[in-house]
Amino acid sequence: MAKIPTKPWGGRFSEPTDKFVERFSASVDYDHRLYAYDILGSTAHAEMLSKIGVLTDSECLAITDGLDKIREEIENGDFQWSIILEDVHMNIEARLIELVGEPGKKLHTGRSRNDQIATDLRLWTRDQIDQITAQQTVILRHLLVTAERHARTIMPGFTHLQVAQPITFGHHLLAWFEMLHRDRERFRECRHRVNVSPLGSAALAGTGFPIDREYTAEKLGFEGLARNSLDAVSDRDFAIEFAAVASMTLLHLSRWCEELVSWNSPAFDFIELPDSFCTGSSIMPQKKNPDIPELVRGKTGRVFGNLSSLLVLMKGQPLAYNRDNQEDKEALFDTADTLRDCLFAMGEIVAAMSPKVENMRALAEKGFATATDLADYLVRKAVPFRDAHTIVGRVVAHALENELSLHEIEVSQLQQFSDAIEADVLDCLTLEGSIAARKHLGGTAPEAVMAAIQNAKESL
Ligand code: ARG
Repeated sequence: MAKIPTKPWGGRFSEPTDKFVERFSASVDYDHRLYAYDILGSTAHAEMLSKIGVLTDSECLAITDGLDKIREEIENGDFQWSIILEDVHMNIEARLIELVGEPGKKLHTGRSRNDQIATDLRLWTRDQIDQITAQQTVILRHLLVTAERHARTIMPGFTHLQVAQPITFGHHLLAWFEMLHRDRERFRECRHRVNVSPLGSAALAGTGFPIDREYTAEKLGFEGLARNSLDAVSDRDFAIEFAAVASMTLLHLSRWCEELVSWNSPAFDFIELPDSFCTGSSIMPQKKNPDIPELVRGKTGRVFGNLSSLLVLMKGQPLAYNRDNQEDKEALFDTADTLRDCLFAMGEIVAAMSPKVENMRALAEKGFATATDLADYLVRKAVPFRDAHTIVGRVVAHALENELSLHEIEVSQLQQFSDAIEADVLDCLTLEGSIAARKHLGGTAPEAVMAAIQNAKESL
């Protein structure tokens, strides 16, 4: 018969734990995914205990070998997780004692599950940030490649989803680049605050053993030490910050997706998404739906929800550690999993989407997109801007009435609206003329876009 594990903390109890309480308080179903970080932390802690003489060299070796064996068992699927042992920490510790005996019982000297979980979570979050920023770099590169290819491709720029002014597709993609680039910066900054060692804070007050916190911090690749033991075991602001930066990133991805969904609709018909990234309808045979960008937009909502859960989780907690904190994990894990999936999806889409440049141009031609250029032209001919605005408004009304584009109106006809208009007006009414004029830093002219791409490449 398999041995029923006993609680490591069972000494002062005279009744067995209620079955409901066992299930309700267990976190091992989800925190088992921290095993590798838990083992790393325990190994560093054991080596530190041996360095300060609390463990002998042979006890330390027995522990670290035992932990290696446990890692193998977990990775081979041979490890028996038990909810009776609550969480990842007690499951691993109990197995260690089973495997190596007496030395295993000494591992928990001078530490608590409170600094242990804070350590595990910080190591896990740091790894997630590294994976996420690498994915962001991939997308940023794809954006630059496509932007370069389309530095001269003309599309309508929108305000209020009405055609506003002509822009280049490359310029539009660089707007996405800027958003994601800032998000990557935010993750990198967040990483410094995540990468601080709580180990040694023990339950809340630190420990009476002469521990060497610098030693464990260095072994685990932390940049510094948490300065206050109560704060170190109880605060989860690093997780909240991670979720906030993830939320901002998804907010941006969601906005792109909103555009992709519109652009993919026959109403715009600006892009073709690859078949492999679309799905069909169970009833309408003609449909090719942009479900993946829709899902990225949709999953953004659950990550905002996770951020909100974490904020609410912390707001009522007195110092120091409270078991409430155990509830941080699912929100944090789901945030990272969802974001990594969404970044993967966006990377594939950005690399594979093909713009329909004729359709982009055709819509830019339709919406009087160069009306502002005509007003600016009049200003250059000494007409005050407000008067120029009114004059061009009348020209647009005339064009609407006669179903003409601005560049299709005869110069002689234009001159009826203002005698400042001369034959050179036609240059400013074309889409090319309009974009070429906006060649300052941050502008949409092909040369400005190419310069921005050059700078962007350097920033990667
Ligand atoms: N599973 C716990 C958590 O996730 C570990 C710390 C438990 N500490 C305690 N004193 N009950 O927070």
